[in-house]
Amino acid sequence: MRIVRFDSLESTNKYCEALDLAEVEDFTCYWALEQTAGIGQRGNVWASASRENLTFSLVLHPTFLPADRQFKLTEALSLALVDVLKDFKDLKDPKDLKVKWPNDIHVDGKKICGTLVSTRLSGNAISSAVCGIGLNVNQTSFPDWVPNPTSLSLLTGREYELEPLLRQLLACIERRYNELKAGLDPEPEYLEHLLNLGLPARYRYNEEEIEATITGVDPHGRLLLTTSDGRRISCGMKEITLL
Ligand code: BTN
Repeated sequence: MRIVRFDSLESTNKYCEALDLAEVEDFTCYWALEQTAGIGQRGNVWASASRENLTFSLVLHPTFLPADRQFKLTEALSLALVDVLKDFKDLKDPKDLKVKWPNDIHVDGKKICGTLVSTRLSGNAISSAVCGIGLNVNQTSFPDWVPNPTSLSLLTGREYELEPLLRQLLACIERRYNELKAGLDPEPEYLEHLLNLGLPARYRYNEEEIEATITGVDPHGRLLLTTSDGRRISCGMKEITLL
């Protein structure tokens, strides 16, 4: 495992996207102490105060995964993040640790971590993946427009050194990645941690407000729900928001 550290980058994902990924060794981590234009899901900005949090991108070559099974990588990454936070002795109640579909990590109902995965294909296989991870560590105040954020410091009142935490996180990712490579399906465990699985909740679905219950994910990672009036729906990320 190789870690390449930068004082400041626009975005570690953007940096990796510009690389010739075929030339990058599997499991190389590009870590920036500061991102000046961090990218979030749905084209949002990822706000992270300079030197306070972990912002990094990991380059992987999951050539063993068929192109239409990218979501397995998302599931494995989410579980690695859960592994790290679950073992965090300072957190009071690890039961409140949830994956909000597709891959936000929530503690006590607030978002502590976001992941942004992009892949490149070669034929029917994934030749490389850039897995961008932002974990809120020491930041205790966030801009008003950031929805529902928390951080390790907000949860525990303590400060953390970034590099040991990064190494711990990478070790957990490596373990989950190796399990995936060995053919272990992360889905059952992913579903165990999925926020609102089996629980009725209100969502905005396209232009509608609905009450629905999450029943699982399909092989492409689309979220499966049954509405309170018995309709079965499957959604991509742009189609559904938890209210
Ligand atoms: C989300 O919106 O939940 C995804 C956030 C992903 C943020 C990380 S920080 C490191 C990497 N570089 C980026 O610009 N984004 C990802």
